[in-house]
Amino acid sequence: MSHEPNHAFDPRRSNLLIRAATARDLEWVHALLEGDGLPANDLDAVRPGFLLACAGTKIAGAGALERYGEAALLRSLVVAAAWRGRGLGHRLARSLERQARAAGVRTLVLLTETAQEFFARLDYQLIAREQAPAAVRSSSEFRSLCPASAICMAKSLR
Ligand SMILES: CC(C)(COP(=O)(O)OP(=O)(O)OC[C@H]1O[C@@H](n2cnc3c(N)ncnc32)[C@H](O)[C@@H]1OP(=O)(O)O)[C@@H](O)C(=O)NCCC(=O)NCCS
Repeated sequence: MSHEPNHAFDPRRSNLLIRAATARDLEWVHALLEGDGLPANDLDAVRPGFLLACAGTKIAGAGALERYGEAALLRSLVVAAAWRGRGLGHRLARSLERQARAAGVRTLVLLTETAQEFFARLDYQLIAREQAPAAVRSSSEFRSLCPASAICMAKSLR
């Protein structure tokens, strides 16, 4: 398994697959996240549900949901650098939203230092951290992993 793209890759034509990660994928997911400086220290303890974007045997991106009652933290959305700008980030985010909606989640919350514009285009609104549901604020990502400077955004799935 590798993160490197096939240079002929075209997301409109390829058989890009969005699928749930298995335990065997997690080493690759950790490497992707750590490569981008995103928190991965808590993954073994928290075990959020990951979706992967895969092209054949290559893992091109990942993203996860961490459930807190009617809310969920959308976290660890990452596309390997060589695969960016091809719509994978949007596809992963939309797939996570569909999965959350189907599971009865009403609000998605996220923290980001670098991708505010990306999420704004997906209709996430800027909120103060204190406005996030209390259960989400108790998550390790909120409490200790993301710097206080990270921007908080939310989206209602209703
Ligand atoms: C954010 C990220 C997941 C986007 O993945 P991607 O596959 O490149 O996204 P897409 O190709 O679906 O991008 C869709 C659009 O958003 C834009 N975009 C992508 N990342 C962006 C960013 N960080 N800021 C602003 N716009 C961004 C793209 O230019 C593209 O615009 P276009 O449609 O006009 O061409 C990717 O840049 C990444 O992994 N970043 C590092 C990790 C990170 O910051 N994750 C978010 C914290 S949870």
